[in-house]
Amino acid sequence: MKREIIKTGDGSATIFLPDWNEHYHSKHGAMQEALHVFIQTGYKHHLTRHSPESISILEIGFGTGLNALLTFFEAENTRVKVDYTGVEAYPVSAEELAALDYAEAVAEQSASEIFQELHETGWEKRSEISPFFSLKKEKKFFSEISANEEFDLIYFDAFGPRVQPDLWSEEVFRNMYRALKENGVLVTYSAKGDVRRAMQAVGFAVERLQGPPGKREMLRATKIERC
Ligand SMILES: C[S@@+](CC[C@H](N)C(=O)[O-])C[C@H]1O[C@@H](n2cnc3c(N)ncnc32)[C@H](O)[C@@H]1O
Repeated sequence: MKREIIKTGDGSATIFLPDWNEHYHSKHGAMQEALHVFIQTGYKHHLTRHSPESISILEIGFGTGLNALLTFFEAENTRVKVDYTGVEAYPVSAEELAALDYAEAVAEQSASEIFQELHETGWEKRSEISPFFSLKKEKKFFSEISANEEFDLIYFDAFGPRVQPDLWSEEVFRNMYRALKENGVLVTYSAKGDVRRAMQAVGFAVERLQGPPGKREMLRATKIERC
């Protein structure tokens, strides 16, 4: 499918799919969305609630690696060990990554080097990027995920329900629920009623929270064990 690099509202870039009229991130601001939905409402929320020494994170749609890059610096700054797993069936090319220029948009000195390392590290094996961050990229379809109580946090960043409704179904969220540890949390940018109901139907306790700039709401789903 054709992919184009475009600028979003906050000046950071994203990939646009003209055939689907769909973006990899919010057109109002890719960086703002990643920071708000995944870092602030996911990662930092988990730290505040549990003060953990380590966190295992699953990303649904590794894509450009922006969420992984931002999480890397959070792990370094909070000195929490993050084991990050990114699932992706259609990896982004080296040319696209260069054009996105995320290292420039992240105000960290080593961002360029780290971003390159996140992408150059091999697939299907866990690599220690730093003492506080390991990465395993898995090239496969989301439907092939068979994790069982492995993750504390899921960044659910699939394409939207308008273009890939099957990825927002009860079946998919049941699999996500199983992949999470007890009290584990899934965060996503979508706030659609159908999505919320599918999450609730499989047992998640779902909160509707303020969305990133340009989007009214987002969802955070917590795995509460059934008695
Ligand atoms: C919204 S984009 C991900 C954005 C990504 N988190 C980022 O920060 O760049 C959705 C991603 O899911 C991938 N994808 C779409 N359908 C998939 C499937 N069935 N299995 C695995 N990956 C899929 C796409 O290639 C794309 O990279």
